[in-house]
Parts: sequence; C-alpha cells; structure tokens
Amino acid sequence: MKPPIRVAVTGAAGQICYSLLPRIAAGEMLGLDQPVILQLLEIPAEKAQLALKGVAMELADCAFPLLHGMVLTSDPKVAFKDASWCLLVGSKPRGPGMERADLLKDNGRIFVGQGEVIDEVAADDAKVVVVGNPCNTNAMICASRFKRLPKTSVTAMMRLDQNRALAQLAAKCGCGINDISDIVVYGNHSPTMFADFFNAKVNDKEVTEVIADRAWLETDFLSIVGKRGAAIIEARGVSSATSAANALIDHVKSLNTVGSGIYSMAVRSAGEYGFASEIWSGMPCRTIAPGRYEIVPTMALTAFARERIAKTNAELLSEREVVQSLL
Ligand code: NAD
Ligand code: LMR
Repeated sequence: MKPPIRVAVTGAAGQICYSLLPRIAAGEMLGLDQPVILQLLEIPAEKAQLALKGVAMELADCAFPLLHGMVLTSDPKVAFKDASWCLLVGSKPRGPGMERADLLKDNGRIFVGQGEVIDEVAADDAKVVVVGNPCNTNAMICASRFKRLPKTSVTAMMRLDQNRALAQLAAKCGCGINDISDIVVYGNHSPTMFADFFNAKVNDKEVTEVIADRAWLETDFLSIVGKRGAAIIEARGVSSATSAANALIDHVKSLNTVGSGIYSMAVRSAGEYGFASEIWSGMPCRTIAPGRYEIVPTMALTAFARERIAKTNAELLSEREVVQSLL
C-alpha cells in the first residue's frame, strides 16, 4: 500500500464539496491504489463547523478503504499542513443576476491569507487548484503570496467550461463525448471565455467541417458555454455543484497523469497566445510529470480566435486592476 497523500479542501461543508469529497475518498481523483487523508477547512461559525462534522460522519459511514484519516478544522495552518493538493473551493458563490467578478471584493481577500499559509506549511510538492470565483484572479492573488513554492503550482479551473463545450458539441454532432477532442477554453472563467471550436475535432474531422452552421458555432455555442453557469443558477437557484466537483476531479486527474492529452486549465501566463504576463488564463496544457504541466505552444489561432482572446485578456487585466491592493 502506498503512503497516504494529504489533500486539503476548503469550503468542505459547502455544496460542491458534498459532491467532491466522496469521490476523492473513493479514489476517483488520485487513483484506486492511493490512500488519502482529507484535511477539511471551514469557517469557524458554529453552524459551518457542525455541518462539517455531519459531512465527516457521512464520509466515515461510506467506509471508504482509501480514506486513511480526516482532519476537521477552522485553522488554515492545520488544514494545509503538509498537504500535497490544496483544493480551494471555500468562498462565496454568486446568486441570480450577478457576475462572478462581483465576488472579487468579498472572495479576493480569502486567497491572500490562504496563499500565505499554503506557502508556509504545505508540502514542498504542493499543487493548488482554485475553484472559488472569480477563480482566475483568485489564483493570481493566492500565488502572489508565494515565496517558497513556485507560482506556477497554482492553477484555476477551466475544466467545467471544457466539459460544457464538449457536451454541447457532442449533442450538436449527434456523437459521443469521446468522439470529440482538442477543445480548449481560453481566458477567463466568465462569459468572455473563448472555447476554440476551430481546433476541435470530431474523430479525425474538423468540427467546422462536421458542423456546417458557422453562425451557431460563433454565436450560440460560445454563448451557451460562456453563460452556462448563469443558466444553472437561474434554473437551480444556486450555482453548479455536481458538475463543478466532477470538473475538479478531471482537472486533478489530467494534471497528475502523463499522457492525459491536451486539456484546458487556467495557468500563469508568460505571454503565451497573446495573453498578458502574470495573469491566470485558460490555455491548452499537457502534463509532463505527475502534477507538472506545460503550456502547449503550437495551437494555431484564427483571426476570430485572436479577437476573442484579446477581449477575455482585457477582462482579466481589468480584474487585476480591481485587486491591485491585494497583490
Ligand atoms: P457554498 O456556499 O455551498 O459553499 C462554500 C463553503 O465555503 C461554505 O460552506 C462556506 O462556509 C465556506 N467558506 C467560505 N469562506 C471560507 C474560507 N475562508 N475558508 C474555508 N471555507 C470557507 O458554495 P459552492 O457552491 O460550494 O461554491 C464555492 C465556490 O466555487 C463559489 O465561489 C462558486 O462561485 C465557485 N464555483 C466555481 C466553479 C468553477 O468552474 N471555477 C464552478 C462552480 C462554483
Ligand atoms: C459555474 O460556472 O457554474 C460557476 O462558476 C458558478 C457560477 O457562478 O457560474
């Protein structure tokens, strides 16, 4: 049996984590031969701590053989201690009529404190994934506190957007999810994101060949994918949870697996694909060693794609302006 890996998860009594934690404990994220210790962080409020206790009771009652321990805490220093994965979910979700950027003021400061503590106490090989919105800019805030750990170890989740794009394309083409490949979502996890259908393939054919309706691709498809989060809030009254948890599992699995192909992840830009440096932007990534990625440098961009990327880049820069005092 391998030694257990410590996985810190914040917002552990929230709705995403209710879908996420059992899947981690069942081995779906790090492997069916990999024991885990879950280090669960919640705010100190009595109600949240009681709810966290309830979640832990349920996890215990699942009798997962790979779950080698649970730590329940409101102290980030305890939660992130020696953690190899830090999954930063805990933060406020938006409600109907809000944009994710409206959360910046409230959520941004969470990632200042957590970034500092992760840098101080997490494992040397710690990988940090930011889910709490607006996740790209929160990732930038978190990484800005790093002195010991590399800033590139902080990524933010675009995988839900990639999965949404996959589902829409498969439905339109009348094919299976696995028939579609190379769909990458660039930029901000916001309506300005750009799901690059030009490079996507249905088996060996270009998506643009299979879907002749270019107007659908350029307008409806991009808008459905970009505004899917709001559509779910409109329908459910609360934001996506099961699909978000699933995307986080996919994100970590891909990042941890050499040969997992090209996937979308928000990473620190050094000027690739026309993005400004030092912002966290969705880009095509591939894994070069477990937990280590590179940005795939060779995707061709059409003029349409460049225009869309310029727009989402501008939005990321304006978010950076808003949080300048936190960096
Ligand atoms: P939720 O309100 O159900 O749960 C959030 C939990 O975080 C709460 O229990 C809260 O007490 C806790 N929390 C708040 N501040 C914390 C802190 N400083 N430390 C630890 N815990 C803290 O919300 P949710 O539906 O689980 O969503 C969580 C976040 O994920 C939101 O910001 C949401 O917008 C975001 N989200 C992102 C994506 C994505 O694709 N990036 C997808 C879905 C949701
Ligand atoms: C989503 O895309 O579902 C999440 O980011 C939640 C939201 O606020 O849209």
